[in-house]
Amino acid sequence: MLSFLKSLLSSSTNNTRIQAQQLLRDNSEDDAYTVPTRVLYPFQWNWDSCFTSLGWVTFDEDRAWAEIASLLKGQCRSGKIPHIIFHKDSESYFPGPDIWQYDNPEMKTSGISQPPVLATTVRMAYERCKNKEQALSFINSIMPKILAYHRWWHERRDPHSTGLVATYHPWETGRDNSVEWDEPLKAVPLDDLQPYVRKDLATINPAYRPTNEDYDYYVALLQLFKTHKYDQIKLYEISPFKVADIGINSILARANSDLLYMMTLCDSSEEDRQTVLNWLDMQAKAFERFWNSDRGVYQSINLITGEKLDFVTSGSFLSLWSGLIPFENASIMASTLENMRHATKVLVPSLSADDAKYDRYRYWRGPVWAIINFMIYDGLKIYDQKLLADQIFNATRTAIKTYGFKEYYDPVSGEGLGGDNFSWTAAMWLYWLDKK
Ligand code: DGY
Repeated sequence: MLSFLKSLLSSSTNNTRIQAQQLLRDNSEDDAYTVPTRVLYPFQWNWDSCFTSLGWVTFDEDRAWAEIASLLKGQCRSGKIPHIIFHKDSESYFPGPDIWQYDNPEMKTSGISQPPVLATTVRMAYERCKNKEQALSFINSIMPKILAYHRWWHERRDPHSTGLVATYHPWETGRDNSVEWDEPLKAVPLDDLQPYVRKDLATINPAYRPTNEDYDYYVALLQLFKTHKYDQIKLYEISPFKVADIGINSILARANSDLLYMMTLCDSSEEDRQTVLNWLDMQAKAFERFWNSDRGVYQSINLITGEKLDFVTSGSFLSLWSGLIPFENASIMASTLENMRHATKVLVPSLSADDAKYDRYRYWRGPVWAIINFMIYDGLKIYDQKLLADQIFNATRTAIKTYGFKEYYDPVSGEGLGGDNFSWTAAMWLYWLDKK
């Protein structure tokens, strides 16, 4: 009887694996890059692709490296890797390349970036892959590009070497409508806003998406950047929205450590290694500025007012993934996270349910995201919080197994929400959750 149950369990796990692999194939374009989901997001997105490559590496290593090579085709001369690469035309997304009008001779792209997970996911793919020789030869060839990307963040987004990199747009944080951005966005003038039409609401329930008011700010910022020809240093001085996102800063710190590690495997120069060490050192010294001891979490900072954005979001817990925080603070944060379980069955909600703005259905104001849970899980393990890490693993696994590969999940019922057939959710199944 026991062996019958075991084989039933393992055949259902195999089925989920086969479905996840098929989903990636279905969302693959030209055997080169993966769209996050058809219709809603019909192009290549920066951090989506990095996480999706981790799914590919579990069953098709060539395809995993092709994903990264396609992403790097959109890299700008400045080193920036844009948040969207428009390899082909599509009418189903706003704002497309005609709206961005970003002058990138390499490829049609957007004019902002996204959380720099690239170095970390390349390291993870390398560690998981079987053909190390092929992987190392590819990684050697892209090391200068990854280094240039990190240089772009440190030099263009932290021109005064404070150790905190700035972001100028909520889309750049990847956590678009997080409550952290509500107050800073109020400084964005809407007087010159040009008319526009959203396309996301044609396929997704508006209650699950950012509001029209949010979109007005997103588009007004885009239009402002365009007026200033996306001049990064100028925007550091004049962008009305300028925050140090705890998510981006944590992800960049972790990526610097992973870049350093890969440099030991590649033909990198001592000078380049020293540069990355200096960035990391600067970040380590500045990181304490994100800590709010009253709340027991790390928080983003509004760089225009200097104030902390006083919310407990899933972004706060990405600080664990940075590896830069003291063990003592990690254990305070683990208790903060543990306390959030009273209201939400599925950790980690993108906003604490104790917050008045919590909304269990609306995108980054409550719902749970698999990639965020993966980073928090991994961060908790760095700090020996194994029990809590395993609870997050199990909750994410159950939600995906029950409701399929959705964009995000309701933290109360676990039900799937947002876009269907979502690539990075399937990738997280393959790379992280396909165990037991
Ligand atoms: C969107 O359009 O919703 C994206 O999150 C922007 O990258």
